[in-house]
Amino acid sequence: MKTYKEYFAESLHRYFSEHLSVEKITELIEKPKQEAHGDLAFPCFVLAKALKTAPQKIAAEAAEHIRDVHFSMVEANGPYINAFINREIASKAVIEDVLKQKQHYGDHHFGDGKTITFDLSSPNIAKPFSMGHLRSTVIGNAIANLSEKCGYKAVRINYIGDWGTQFGKLIYAYIKWGSEEAVQRDPIPELFRLYTKFHEEAERDPSLDDEGRLWFKRLEDGDPEATRIWEWFRTVSLEAFNKIYDLLNVRFDSMNGEAFYNDKMDAVVEELEEKGLLVESEGALVVELGDDLPPCLIKKKDGATLYATRDLASALYRKREYDFFESLYVVGNEQSLHFKQIKEVLKKMGYDWADRIEHVPFGMILKDGKKMSTRKGRVVLLEKVLQEIIALAESNILEKNPDLKNKEEVARQVGVGAVIYHDLKHYRMNDVEFSMEDMLKFEGNTGPYLQYTHARACSILRKAGRAPERVTAGFVDDASWAVITALSAFPEDIRTAFLERNPAQVSKSLFRLAQAFNQFYAQSRILGSENEESKLALVRAVAIVIKEGLRLLGIKAPDEM
Ligand code: ARG
Repeated sequence: MKTYKEYFAESLHRYFSEHLSVEKITELIEKPKQEAHGDLAFPCFVLAKALKTAPQKIAAEAAEHIRDVHFSMVEANGPYINAFINREIASKAVIEDVLKQKQHYGDHHFGDGKTITFDLSSPNIAKPFSMGHLRSTVIGNAIANLSEKCGYKAVRINYIGDWGTQFGKLIYAYIKWGSEEAVQRDPIPELFRLYTKFHEEAERDPSLDDEGRLWFKRLEDGDPEATRIWEWFRTVSLEAFNKIYDLLNVRFDSMNGEAFYNDKMDAVVEELEEKGLLVESEGALVVELGDDLPPCLIKKKDGATLYATRDLASALYRKREYDFFESLYVVGNEQSLHFKQIKEVLKKMGYDWADRIEHVPFGMILKDGKKMSTRKGRVVLLEKVLQEIIALAESNILEKNPDLKNKEEVARQVGVGAVIYHDLKHYRMNDVEFSMEDMLKFEGNTGPYLQYTHARACSILRKAGRAPERVTAGFVDDASWAVITALSAFPEDIRTAFLERNPAQVSKSLFRLAQAFNQFYAQSRILGSENEESKLALVRAVAIVIKEGLRLLGIKAPDEM
């Protein structure tokens, strides 16, 4: 469908073809600051020189001649040509477009089937799933959904943190202080307790660090006992994480974590060596990155590889395996330096695709203004938090709609939706204050509010007993027009949201639509009204767009709640 800007540009071009290209005209068209000045405006200053005429006069003359069915009025206002969209025609076109395309409304094809890999979630085994990992999961999944909506192929990779010296310490702590039953009973808190205990003890007795290193060395060398314990820790951790992913409804194409790259690390080190990039520094091997960045540590004195080494191996592997067009890492802001280093090392290795690696950072989740951390002994388990919110959502539902069928399922969708939306309504770089109360409000900019608006639209259609495909009469009144404008902005909002890696743009778009729709609903009778058929078509279009927008954010939209 053509945009109104395009229609306007073409009309102007028919008149000014000798002096300006359509592209130039399109570039100059703006949105008037005041509603009374119409929907689109073209400033005539650029033409003054060529036409040797004052812009005011150019505007006045042109406005007399420009006629287009898509505009109900074209008039001059000082040096501007203002156009008023023909609401009757436009509203019909927008609604019919949505009804025809349904959930494909707002699809783009510029991705052209190219692959984007997403590094998202990526929690560390044997540790609680943190709020940071929640943000990565939710933001990463939404951007991946948006990429698919724009025609890309998304590959979701959960790069599990399952390797590193800390597992040597953990194995030691388990053998020394742990028991199988305790870990079985409540794996993550127990493993976390052992890990914390190790650090406390090591402060008193630094020789423990050597024990930890020794066990990690054994693990790296494939020692059967170390491997067995590590594999078991990994399995129980993934079981716990999977419960969270099930609740959030997120799926991954690959769970290849850091350990997967064990046997691929020598090749990286060799390649760096061959390319003359490795330098010795205090017994360790590093790549120097000039004055702006600290050197990238590749191998420790004792031969152990590092986080960066594994990320280099995984970047090379992903390029080989997926031949990505772009490779995104949705990881907290505090790892910015790490990703700058990785990119720089890859560039030094001669890989021009390093430019296609992008770190997509985000801020923190705060509780009472402070970072929510898993402090010693006080483990906040995300799964429990989610369960608690779902329970709250359920009691909300019981109060509002006690007869609802499948209450449990809806409560889950509302509770989880509330958490996801609360995150995604903020620009990702901003810190987010965690508040269950705010999340679950049915008013204001919340997940439940949008779900509720969708359910309301569905309920109108249910009562009507039909879902119209066509619009008989268009809409001209302001309340309906606000809904139409919000609907028509959706496709462009999707594009911007994807290009700016900013799911908050989708939230904004949906909230605006929901508000306009609820105002329209408060003001006009739908069932039994004169224009019932068209109004129902509008209601249906709203339901379709909210549902699709929420889907992109990773949120379900129940038909009833
Ligand atoms: N496991 C890491 C952490 O929790 C995040 C991994 C991010 N992805 C990556 N490719 N480095 O800090």
